[in-house]
Amino acid sequence: MALSLTINGEVFASRRDPMTPLIDVLREDLALTGAKAVCREGFCGACMVLIDGRPAVSCLTPIALAEGRDIRTIEGLGRDGEPTPLQQALEAQDVVQCGMCFPGMVVTLTAFLAAEPGATRDEIKRALVGNICRCTGYERIIDAALVCAAGARD
Ligand code: FES
Ligand code: FES
Repeated sequence: MALSLTINGEVFASRRDPMTPLIDVLREDLALTGAKAVCREGFCGACMVLIDGRPAVSCLTPIALAEGRDIRTIEGLGRDGEPTPLQQALEAQDVVQCGMCFPGMVVTLTAFLAAEPGATRDEIKRALVGNICRCTGYERIIDAALVCAAGARD
């Protein structure tokens, strides 16, 4: 029996085992490679997606639990090819990284700023506690998120 998955607004039928991790369907079946399978144990955050607007590690989410829910990947955050305000702020801050865990951070911050639009620097730092990155510092990412938060406060 096929499971029905709604990903970035489109419905896909998957005949994979219901316990298949969502990350495998995203990357192997749908070529949505923004989310990365790094630790596969739920602690690095590189595989982060939004499920019903909340961040979720797709390496530990069986597709059976994602059925019927709104799944959004980094590829589906902007609309009509337009980057989100956070993505625009990241570009403006010249945030350049290798791309391994950066998409997961953007997904986490997208959900966080939606819930806490006027967040402080410390709150933004805490929001990223589940996203581990080794290729650079976090400072400019936090700067960009803070620009969005300051904009929301004004
Ligand atoms: S790959 Fe999912 S948390 Fe690390
Ligand atoms: S984005 Fe390069 S290791 Fe995190």
